[in-house]
Amino acid sequence: MDTRKVYIETYGCQMNLADTELIVGLLKPHGYEPTQVAAQADVILLNTCAIREHAEERVLRRLGELVRHKTRRPGVLLGLTGCMAQHHRESLLDKAPFLDLVLGPDAYRHLPALLVQEDKDEPLVSVRLDRDETYADITPARGEGVRAWVTVMRGCDKFCTFCIVPYVRGRERSVSLAALLAQVRELAAQGYKEVVYLGQTVNAYRDGDHDFADLLWRTAEVEGIERIRFTSPHPADMSERIIAAMATCPKVASYLHLPLQAASNRVLEQMERGYTVEQYATLVERLRAAVPGIALSTDIIVGFPGEEESDFRATYDFMAEIRYDSAFMFKYSAREGTKAYKWGETLSEEEKGRRLQEIIALQERISAEINRQTIGQTVEVLIEGPAKRQEGWLAGKSGQFKTVVFPSTGAQPGEVMPVRVVSATAHTLVGEARL
Ligand code: SAH
Ligand code: SF4
Ligand code: F3S
Repeated sequence: MDTRKVYIETYGCQMNLADTELIVGLLKPHGYEPTQVAAQADVILLNTCAIREHAEERVLRRLGELVRHKTRRPGVLLGLTGCMAQHHRESLLDKAPFLDLVLGPDAYRHLPALLVQEDKDEPLVSVRLDRDETYADITPARGEGVRAWVTVMRGCDKFCTFCIVPYVRGRERSVSLAALLAQVRELAAQGYKEVVYLGQTVNAYRDGDHDFADLLWRTAEVEGIERIRFTSPHPADMSERIIAAMATCPKVASYLHLPLQAASNRVLEQMERGYTVEQYATLVERLRAAVPGIALSTDIIVGFPGEEESDFRATYDFMAEIRYDSAFMFKYSAREGTKAYKWGETLSEEEKGRRLQEIIALQERISAEINRQTIGQTVEVLIEGPAKRQEGWLAGKSGQFKTVVFPSTGAQPGEVMPVRVVSATAHTLVGEARL
């Protein structure tokens, strides 16, 4: 069988990165090898995101650049996969008529067959959402390293009014507990040390009577896996059982990404997030009591339709009170097809930008303060490899999922070692190994 090369660029969230590994895993048995060089590829794919308009604009610009590979080397196939393919299934071929393939997130299984279809004159489009597709039987082609992503559930049933995900990823569905545990045992045997469970509402995971807490408990029993992390949990699905599992399994990271979005009850209600700010605050209290020292991060949207200055101030003040370790902060972007889209925009780009800059500055200050408090402490670092910026240094993550860099001791990726923190910025702890 001739080897053919596939080049994939990935946009968006970790679930999409995991889907790229899935796509490569699907193609490998059909004689495809991944390449990092678009100019050498027979198939060029952009695995795309639709969460904000900005993400989509980037992809369209990139497509315009990549199309030259088709003109230079006839026979090269150019395709779009993922959430933006699903979102714009109708208009995409008008905007980018040179596309050969348009595949939504539930259509990857058909990819090998589509690539060998005789008639390549017509673009191949497959965008049917499939409420049963979990790809549980497909082995993703994972990269080297200490960390393995494992998709435990796909889709989302929450329909927050601003969000495109339920429309492009379809309904919630989980992989069976048995299949996941078999996968994790295999990963441990291959030498992976950290498992990251993925799903848009990962803690809504369910397999019959088994919930996400069961999955954590059972995973903690797998020998060789040192750390377990998961993203993104939804605050409304953060049950006592899951908190108990986090508290009782030392392998589960002392870190949680808990998207807040906004801290005004009026805005939260219009977003249909399913919790009040008081309920969210109580949840944080329970987590901090159960898992002492737990690091928290969040997602915030500013400029949701109807967000008044007082609503924004409530979010600002709440962030100052909770003191997240870090946060991903976004300007609201209206997404066609969502409920909030019909409400239009009530703020200018400048005003949204001002609000965004205000909370970014606040969060930078808090992140730096929290990280500086760890100076003098010793943290357990799971080593990932050489540091990116300093020659001769190693980088890894602490149990709170903070990036730690320190001069190399000759330790290897996958080893866990104590490192004393000597200085810190908002994003990195700088340390020295304790021998
Ligand atoms: N499932 C996760 C979020 C997935 S999307 C959850 O419910 O928490 C990641 C983040 O993108 C969201 O948390 C939100 O902060 C942001 N986001 C989603 N839709 C957006 C939009 N229309 N405009 C701006 N940010 C958005
Ligand atoms: Fe989007 Fe809400 Fe689902 Fe998260 S929970 S993916 S924000 S609809
Ligand atoms: Fe984007 Fe799709 Fe993820 S819209 S954030 S790539 S689920």
